[in-house]
Amino acid sequence: MVRPKLGGMTATAPLAPYRLHDHLPLPAPTAAIEGCARRIERYPVHITSSLDATLDRLEPIVRGKGVGIITDDVVESLFARPLVCGLRDLGCEVLLHAVPAGEASKSVNQALALWDWLASSTLARRDVLLTLGGGVVADLGGWVASAYMRGIRYVNLPTTLLAQVDGALGGKVAVNHRLAKNLLGAFHQPAAVIADVSSLRSLERRHLAAGLAECIKKAVIASPEYWGLIHRDAEAILDRDQAALERLVRGAAAIKTALIERDPYEADLRRPLNFGHTVGHPLETATGYGTLLHGEAVAFGMVAESRVAEARGVLAPAVLEELVALLRRCGLPTAAADLPVAVSANDVMRAMEKVRLIRAGSLRYVLPAAIGETIIADDVSDAETHRALVACGLA
Ligand SMILES: NC(=O)c1ccc[n+]([C@@H]2O[C@H](COP(=O)([O-])OP(=O)(O)OC[C@H]3O[C@@H](n4cnc5c(N)ncnc54)[C@H](O)[C@@H]3O)[C@@H](O)[C@H]2O)c1
Ligand SMILES: [Zn+2]
Repeated sequence: MVRPKLGGMTATAPLAPYRLHDHLPLPAPTAAIEGCARRIERYPVHITSSLDATLDRLEPIVRGKGVGIITDDVVESLFARPLVCGLRDLGCEVLLHAVPAGEASKSVNQALALWDWLASSTLARRDVLLTLGGGVVADLGGWVASAYMRGIRYVNLPTTLLAQVDGALGGKVAVNHRLAKNLLGAFHQPAAVIADVSSLRSLERRHLAAGLAECIKKAVIASPEYWGLIHRDAEAILDRDQAALERLVRGAAAIKTALIERDPYEADLRRPLNFGHTVGHPLETATGYGTLLHGEAVAFGMVAESRVAEARGVLAPAVLEELVALLRRCGLPTAAADLPVAVSANDVMRAMEKVRLIRAGSLRYVLPAAIGETIIADDVSDAETHRALVACGLA
């Protein structure tokens, strides 16, 4: 007899009853009962340099399916039309929803609007969402995908450098809460990431620099070779040289995916990738989301955290100077005078308190010891943080 497949019937036995091979025994009265779920998710990261190449990579995932594109209004006007046409040529039914551009759209309200849109659409569980845009759209769209129908597939098509080198990779999806960034979120891995560097031609230089900040972070924590590449290519990258951008995005994708694979669900939390973020995220909260770009806040955060490392004798002053010089070459903020709004050391420290609560009492620092080497510290005192912020020029 042909046994029906678990979860569905085979064509040869359409009416056979669904039955487990062995009947399940009831447990002994005192036996422990344990739930268990395991999942290994792999997804390709493609770096392309044209829409045609992007569509080639998308085809196996979307052909014949319904596709819902989540984007923002700026990206929609730049890239949506040819993408929608290309997808329709692949036989896809395509729907699109654009949120207002900017960090403020990473909100519960925008997520609710997207779920309303999806619920009243024809998209089903087998269909695919595409996030087309920067890190805001990837975080928001990924979170919406993670909850809709308990999780539907989505592909990230990042169009900012920051999203290509960081935000679109790793499956961390979230929206902001008034009290803390990324407070409401999930882990939901994309089905693929396709980064088309030709889309960066229209990106403002300030946003390119913000993306570079996350690359510099990766170099500091993991790769002297990548540090060298950024030193060599920084100007070409800011001039949108396509070959230099491809090298940069490939390197970042390889480093980030390798680091994340060790602990994809952050069981450990001692993550070197958080370098620059212990100060950077509270700085974003203190300055009001959107005034400072995420990458700019991370640049400033890296300097403040490196000053803590230097004051402790962990980091050589010459390496700190080299980091500051590289960030400045890219036009990134490294001191209070470079910030677009006035903020005090106490403002930043107040915003850090919320993070301390979330992390059950401890603020974790990633302290660079050399290029490619970090030390995780749980014992950085408020006084050390304050001194480092003051050394960065905050009042
Ligand atoms: N999930 C993660 O692991 C992760 C990692 C890093 C950052 N992030 C998040 O990413 C967000 C920041 O991402 P971002 O800097 O991409 O911001 P963003 O998504 O707001 O994009 C920046 C601006 O650039 C515009 N834009 C996008 N592509 C463009 C293009 N090709 N040409 C011209 N303009 C374009 C957008 O409309 C927007 O106005 C933050 O919320 C941050 O927390 C998430
Ligand atoms: Zn970041």
